[in-house]
Amino acid sequence: MIIAPSLLAANFGQLAKETTRASRSGAEWLHLDVMDGHFVENISFGPAVVKTIRPFSKMFFDVHLMCSKPEILLEPFAQAGADQIIVHVELGDAVTPLLWKIRKLGKKIGLSLNPPTSIGLVQPYLDQIDHLLIMTVNPGFGGQEFIYETLPKIQQANSWRRERNLRYTIGVDGGVNFKTAGECARAGADVFVSGTTLFAAHRLKAAVARMRKIVHEHDPALADLKV
Ligand code: DX5
Ligand code: ZN
Repeated sequence: MIIAPSLLAANFGQLAKETTRASRSGAEWLHLDVMDGHFVENISFGPAVVKTIRPFSKMFFDVHLMCSKPEILLEPFAQAGADQIIVHVELGDAVTPLLWKIRKLGKKIGLSLNPPTSIGLVQPYLDQIDHLLIMTVNPGFGGQEFIYETLPKIQQANSWRRERNLRYTIGVDGGVNFKTAGECARAGADVFVSGTTLFAAHRLKAAVARMRKIVHEHDPALADLKV
């Protein structure tokens, strides 16, 4: 089970300090939301920010590209220090060449889908990706309410993974708090992106430990062992 604080909820006036705080929290991944003001109605930060914070952390940099033309950004983020690059399946025909380019850059491949998007759309790519990110809010802003209609997608992605013996991780992103993290874990998720709930916490380390305990308690694999 992987905990991934989202830097979007950090104090932007102190990004280096906040990155160090995340590094000392026990979380494995740092989730980096890149918004272009076109694919989503917001703009966040670019490769220069990722390059600046890279020396402050050994965490796995999980770069989430909510961008309409990610092909122009893959190499700059790879050079800036991304470990994984996530693009959206809503980009249609552009997806296959994008996944290929990310692999060629030697980075882990992530694919994401928005709440209105059918889970069936990602099925053709499941054997090519390292990570599937199921958006549990409509992307563009932190602090939104979790959309419960997305839970069956997690279950479906988990069933396909088991049936086809695939190894992609299943992430959830948006409105993930101490309650919804448990519900996502029970549905089969194993990567928990959380901005407001974690970065807004005065003691980030304690918040990460609490979320980790909750997702482990709801881990279906552990539940099976108990039976
Ligand atoms: C939203 C982003 C999320 C967001 C999560 O478009 O992709 O990563 O930062 O923030 P919270 O946990 O506050 O919903
Ligand atoms: Zn995100």
